[in-house]
Amino acid sequence: MREDRAINQQLHSIGETEKQNLSPVNQSILKIWGPSRLQGNINISGAKNSALPAMAATLLSSGVCRLRQIPRLADINTMGKVLSALGAKIKQNGNTLDIDASNLDNPEAPYELVRKLRASFFAIGPILARLGVARVPLPGGCAIGARPVDLHVRGLQALGAEVHIEHGMVNAYISGSKKKLQGAKIYLDYPSVGATETLMMAATLAEGETIIENAAQEPEVEDLANLCIAMGANIFGAGTKTIVISGVPKLHSVDYTIIPDRIEAGTFLIAGAITNSEITISPVVPKHLSAVISKLQSVGVEIIQEKFDSLRILPGEILKSTDIDTQPYPGFPTDMQAPFMALLSVCSGSSSVTETVFENRMRHVSELNRMGANIRVKGNHAIVQGVPKLSAAPVIGTDLRASAALILAALAAEGETTFQGLQHLNRGYEEIEIKLQKLGAKLQRVDQVKENEISPASV
Ligand code: EPU
Repeated sequence: MREDRAINQQLHSIGETEKQNLSPVNQSILKIWGPSRLQGNINISGAKNSALPAMAATLLSSGVCRLRQIPRLADINTMGKVLSALGAKIKQNGNTLDIDASNLDNPEAPYELVRKLRASFFAIGPILARLGVARVPLPGGCAIGARPVDLHVRGLQALGAEVHIEHGMVNAYISGSKKKLQGAKIYLDYPSVGATETLMMAATLAEGETIIENAAQEPEVEDLANLCIAMGANIFGAGTKTIVISGVPKLHSVDYTIIPDRIEAGTFLIAGAITNSEITISPVVPKHLSAVISKLQSVGVEIIQEKFDSLRILPGEILKSTDIDTQPYPGFPTDMQAPFMALLSVCSGSSSVTETVFENRMRHVSELNRMGANIRVKGNHAIVQGVPKLSAAPVIGTDLRASAALILAALAAEGETTFQGLQHLNRGYEEIEIKLQKLGAKLQRVDQVKENEISPASV
């Protein structure tokens, strides 16, 4: 009951969207008993942020595309629903998806789905390239920022599309009888991951050559390019600042395995560091984790590359402070900022954390402070004064990575933490409870509605 009151008090200080997300169906909570000592090996899932654009890319092909290592996540289900609404047929078998977009016939993505999953907007490129017309609603902002799509729109216009935004709907079409986009030189004002992906996909079926300058260099962009190349596209330079795409008339079917999730991998490395544990993670591409590994080493933990695709983390004697500044790849990833801050909160000394990618990604700070952390935040800059230990508290996750940060803090904190925000975690971490339990963490999912029904205190 005390916890219920605490959670209700927090509800007054968070936004309407979060309140809706905490409707009774979403009110499962996670109880975590800390501090934990973890041990063992963890299997890293396929990358969510590769899987989502890869699913959109299958719309470029009129053959059946098989995608492997697709994590079973809420966001993947939503993307699947978007593709189905457009006319694609999808079969799921474990982590393998077969997508048949041969009958793609509807150019309009439903608002209810795009609103839930911003990445589904990236499908605008493939729909337009394939059908000559696309209608995709503006996805709107989310908990971490306003997240405009101006770079996607300007790039599509440079490729010759007419684009009009009316009543929240982005209407794009290609005029002329050929219904073909035209290759162009596009300079991105910012190396947006999504805009690079949208434009690269659209350009694969354009007439002529497209050059994207100041492109995002994230591994997920390179993975998407490799998928498109395996489908018959001509793409050079993905993973660098300049990507050159020579359009081809059509793309064919494919059988493709996506890369391991570097953000999930980084989260488990931090789980090892924050609990002073020795764990091994695989498969990973160590190069994709360079910035995170370097910061973990600055903090004082040892990381050993065991095989080409596995990393072992060994506990440090004393955890020391370090400074973090988020940047596009190969800089320190914004998606690791909140999880790393949980670790810094127990590192001795003062650390500085600056978020440069999103304007509203510090909402985990107040919750970490409720667990005993000492963090001051001003705008997008935080000063973390390390404390010897954290203590359990009822906490609410406001977005995916903020939620991961709170779970990490709970593993190190003394006592029983109740975490509310599983709907966010389920968007990005495949079977996180099972994986943590396998490592020896003590946690349990509790259906809060049922718990209230049987609790005498709530009568
Ligand atoms: N931006 C614009 N205009 C645009 C596009 C982006 O101003 O047209 C701004 C954004 O508002 C943001 C910055 O550019 O401030 C970076 O956005 P970017 O487009 O690079 O991000 P994204 O493609 O929307 C992907 C990941 C995010 C990850 C970012 C940055 C997917 C599905 N999402 O988003 O992942 O944080 O790149 O690396 O790939 C997550 O997994 O938790 C997550 C949020």
